Amino acid sequence: MNKTTAIVLAAGEGKRMHSRHPKVLSKLLFRPMIQRVIDSVHGAGIDDIILIIGFKGEELDAIYRERYSCIYQKEQKGTGHAVMQAKDELLKSNCENVIVLNGDAPFVDSKSIVNLIKIHEKEKSAVTLLSAKLDDPFGYGRIIRDSNGNLEKIVEQKDADEEQQKIKEVNSGVYVFNKADLLFALDNIQNNNAANEYYLTDTTEILKNKSKKTGVYMTNNPDTVLGANDKYQLFQLNEKKRLEVLKQLMLDGVEIPCIDGVIIEDSVVIEAGTTILPGSILKGQTKIGKDCVIGPNSYTENVIIGDEVIFNSSYAYDCEIKSKADIGPFVRIRPDSIIEEKVHIGNFVEVKNSTVGAGTKLPHFNYIGDCEVGKDCNFGCGSLVVNYDGTNKTRSTIGDNAFIGCNTNLVSPIKVGHFAYTAAGSTITDDVPDYSLAIARNRQENKENWVIKTRKLKNLDR
Ligand code: UD1
Ligand code: CA
Repeated sequence: MNKTTAIVLAAGEGKRMHSRHPKVLSKLLFRPMIQRVIDSVHGAGIDDIILIIGFKGEELDAIYRERYSCIYQKEQKGTGHAVMQAKDELLKSNCENVIVLNGDAPFVDSKSIVNLIKIHEKEKSAVTLLSAKLDDPFGYGRIIRDSNGNLEKIVEQKDADEEQQKIKEVNSGVYVFNKADLLFALDNIQNNNAANEYYLTDTTEILKNKSKKTGVYMTNNPDTVLGANDKYQLFQLNEKKRLEVLKQLMLDGVEIPCIDGVIIEDSVVIEAGTTILPGSILKGQTKIGKDCVIGPNSYTENVIIGDEVIFNSSYAYDCEIKSKADIGPFVRIRPDSIIEEKVHIGNFVEVKNSTVGAGTKLPHFNYIGDCEVGKDCNFGCGSLVVNYDGTNKTRSTIGDNAFIGCNTNLVSPIKVGHFAYTAAGSTITDDVPDYSLAIARNRQENKENWVIKTRKLKNLDR
């Protein structure tokens, strides 16, 4: 492949999205549409990328300026005008090919890009565009072919007559140009059309009239061209992508008996034999081993989960849960936590920035924050780590086989030894040695007949 620069068009406002943000930041399965386009471009082996930004461009600039060259298109006068903004950059570049893509068409894949460029180079064309046949081509530019089947021009929906509107082959908005030919064509685009815009699509006709070779590569996957112009179309794309991901997981051996509310990002890896129950949202770099049961109603983001883990109605992110752990219901595991093998956590438990040793039980109403908990410990109901004194957070250590009585406050920083016990209701402020019992509460005193003596119970008189 000759040296190729990519231009991603992302300056449009996308009025129909009714969004305060650039349309291309709308998310398809948790990832911005433009990010998906960029990922596909990289996947095709192209790292030199120019973004044309405009409406709320500062948001895109902030995200992308470090890696890509972001060029402002101050007024949005059409896709051709957008590419014109990159002229200086292209003149400086030593690339031979320029591939242009729409930032709002997130289904374009690396393979289609590679194939498009291959055909373009083989045919030695001035421009080659990617097309597809759609059952409902409404809204897209139509591909007009001459009697020999060669590309004649592209006609936009707004400019198409009745006959042209019947054509089902549409322009994907992805094109490869020979750089010199693109620069020539850009200088000759006019805005005499229904929208008074400078259409990039007109370049094909301009080059053809210059006796240059223009080509079309029709993909057999019509999804490649799909874009979202409003939030309903965005939902439709999300649903399509969601089902695509779930189907592939099922074919790979993941059991999803009912897909209601199951949304899994395409970056998530799940091994065969695991079951995903309704209402589970799995995102980011989440990796799940085999024979787990995840859900119902669970959320994970960047969580590494081992084998045979139960994760029921719980929430976890940026943490690790090792094999045979049994989590939930109603547990929240926060970043930088490691839950070792065979740990039991739940219900109503929060763990933050802590390690919980193998076999330990945190069965109900516990908070473990900034703490190293050893193996085979047992935390009674309501016992917790007091890791914050209002100014500083400090860490504590609990030894293996410790037994923390119900409603114990472990005031950090503190060290509880191996096989140490704490009495229920204790507020522990000093270290507890190995094999010791710590009691830190007042002894009970019963004041006999106190109620009668103080006549608290007035009804007793009658
Ligand atoms: C465009 C194509 C159409 C094709 C369709 C595929 C033209 C004239 N039409 O139509 O043939 O079928 O894509 O999705 O090119 N943009 C800018 N600056 C502008 C205008 C647009 O950067 O001045 C960006 C938008 O942000 C968007 C992309 O270009 O990411 C496409 O623009 P849009 O207005 O959505 O074009 P379509 O009407 O979809
Ligand atoms: Ca569009």
